[in-house]
Amino acid sequence: MTFDVDHVLSQLTLAEKAALVSGADLWHTVAVERLGVPAIMCSDGPHGLRAQLEGQDHGGLLASQPATCFPTASAIASSWDAELIREVGGAIGREARHFNVSVVLGPGVNMKRSPLCGRNFEYLSEDPYLAGELGLALVEGVQSQGVGTSMKHYAANNQEDDRLRVSSDVDERTLREIYLPAFERIAKAGAPWTVMCGYNKVNGVYCSENHWLLTEVLRDEWGWDGVVVSDWGAVHDRVAALRGGLDWEMPPNLERSPAAVEEAILSGQLEPAVLDTSVRRMLTLISRGAVVHDTNDEPTFDAHHALSRRASAASIVLLKNDGNVLPLAAEGTAAVIGEFARTPRFQGAGSSQVNPTRVDVLLDELTAMLGEHRVSFAAGYGIDDTSNDDTLLGEAVSTAGAAGVVVCVLGLPAVYESEGYDRTHIELPANQTRLLTAVMAANPNLVVVLVNGSVVRMSEWAGNVPAIVECWLGGQAAGGAIADVLTGASEPGGRLAETIPVALEDIPSTLNFPGDAQHVRYGEGLFIGYRAHDRLAQQVTFPFGHGLSYTTFELTDLTVEQGGRVADGDLRATVSVTVTNTGNRAGSQVVQVYVSDNQSSVVRPVRELKGFAKVHLDAGLSERATITLDQRAFAFWSSKRRTWSVEAGDFTIFAGTSSRDLPLSQLIMIEAPSLSEPLTQMSTLHEWRADPTGKQLLDERLRNPIWNDEHFVALLGTMPMDTLANFNFGLTHDGLDAIVEQWTGARLP
Ligand code: BGC
Repeated sequence: MTFDVDHVLSQLTLAEKAALVSGADLWHTVAVERLGVPAIMCSDGPHGLRAQLEGQDHGGLLASQPATCFPTASAIASSWDAELIREVGGAIGREARHFNVSVVLGPGVNMKRSPLCGRNFEYLSEDPYLAGELGLALVEGVQSQGVGTSMKHYAANNQEDDRLRVSSDVDERTLREIYLPAFERIAKAGAPWTVMCGYNKVNGVYCSENHWLLTEVLRDEWGWDGVVVSDWGAVHDRVAALRGGLDWEMPPNLERSPAAVEEAILSGQLEPAVLDTSVRRMLTLISRGAVVHDTNDEPTFDAHHALSRRASAASIVLLKNDGNVLPLAAEGTAAVIGEFARTPRFQGAGSSQVNPTRVDVLLDELTAMLGEHRVSFAAGYGIDDTSNDDTLLGEAVSTAGAAGVVVCVLGLPAVYESEGYDRTHIELPANQTRLLTAVMAANPNLVVVLVNGSVVRMSEWAGNVPAIVECWLGGQAAGGAIADVLTGASEPGGRLAETIPVALEDIPSTLNFPGDAQHVRYGEGLFIGYRAHDRLAQQVTFPFGHGLSYTTFELTDLTVEQGGRVADGDLRATVSVTVTNTGNRAGSQVVQVYVSDNQSSVVRPVRELKGFAKVHLDAGLSERATITLDQRAFAFWSSKRRTWSVEAGDFTIFAGTSSRDLPLSQLIMIEAPSLSEPLTQMSTLHEWRADPTGKQLLDERLRNPIWNDEHFVALLGTMPMDTLANFNFGLTHDGLDAIVEQWTGARLP
């Protein structure tokens, strides 16, 4: 059902307009029946649908319609596979149509600033480029089905603690380089139908009222033209939010908001054009979403379950595999230890919680694949009760000791990580690490399988166990997917989308997390994730981008071809690498390209991910992977010039398979217009000497040899020339003015 937006807008009363910019209830827009405007429905998001047809709640507490639970964001991001994520998005879109849901509330593309954020399982990565590319794929997939998305939570919403009031205090460069790029990429290339603002404030202003974020950056700069919806309950002043650029308040404050909007218009405090703009956007959204789908057209839930299983396997990261313990041998017995093998945990708690159509159980799947006679089981620990249980431990030790190989499944109980609160540590429960030590002593031929939504510390034991598989929260088919990977029916396709640090204390944001007095200072600036560990030269347990395969790969023949010019804004570099599967089975590898600015006038990360390609290859085959870097790949946000800037000089292009395994590199020289500021009286001696014309003028005008004395220059070089003119070194203020004048004249074209 479509309608003419302009016509409807011209017919609406003020009361109807004020109603339209608030929702009708928890999940619907307002209908205007007399003008043929229907209501449309939205639902969470992001890794499956939480469509509630009867009874409503906010937070995943009441049951929703059974839908496919796909791998959560931290899992699926580890696939580094945009194609696959597009496919998953398409399936979510099809299920949305089936439930008559017009907007899926996801993806969540906030950065993992700290591993403590309770909602990290719903976010993709610590790297903005990776999050942008993968979030874009999900948006494209869902929207390919004629269903909208809501990229969220815009912006700098990186913790749960005090999430409705806290102000994320972040400098603009950090926002532009770390916290906004994923949103920017998706807004520009994916045109998500809606954007959900964060609950928090950014630099003291609620996201829901933040004109700079919602209007100047999102719409004016990025050219995005959809609907901004509030996070559920993020609006505190409806009129200020409209002015800021927030179109749709959810859920509506029916008690106050419509009346406040009407009153603001009638009293002249709100421009009618501001309201009309938001109403027009709402009508456009409703007309796009109001297509009536055939709800009898059941999506093939079986096929979606199979897709979820494939996606989960593609997201599983084989962190370590000493002595090729995996895949499990075709013969011999396996002891499966750990309650999580029998009681799966495959998604996180809160608004993203899906009511799955079915759930694979790892123990059952593995038993079916290996045969009952080969598999034994012991729970080893309790999940709800995490106290030490010597009986469970004793059973596990004897079961492990009697088997050929041990599969020890460990993970985070649901209460350890959730929407709504943050973690205070990154440890596994102590009853599980105690179990691991005891089981290892009984049988060191052991594989640790991890199920957790956010990073756990492994440094205490990772060196002692031969194999570790990080499965994240892999959705309803995770049990089957893990069994597929353990047996070798599938290869572990994942690579880390976040660093596994040695300790929480290595994360700089820990110093400012979760903040106090309703402020959290992003004092670490750009340095989150691998950017921090690299800059601080820290060891990590497993680096960003890392993951092994059951086959081996070699990267060779890196070439970099430069094209375009910075001055024209079209600089690009085409990076090509040959990937060869040197092992004896098919597998996939992720070629990662990092860029390093070797001579920069500002502090920059040591290197940053700027491109990647996932390559699937049969044994013995090679393929040339080509990755194009655009000008932005070389740029930093200049705080002085308030724009993206590329500085002339040497850059190194690295290619490899993790942020710490970069066997190939090439130096390139980039030419660019100078970014240096004009020299003035307040420029320092160092700055004058660094400029060829400036240095020449000083040499000509200043006769005292002290101006070229090494020690003098080192001692006083950071002083502005204006200050140096006060000292008796033969430079007067008039003389300095003349030098500045001459320099300025020489510079003019
Ligand atoms: C969450 C959003 C979610 C919304 C609707 C909020 O609490 O932050 O991510 O989409 O609720 O359930």
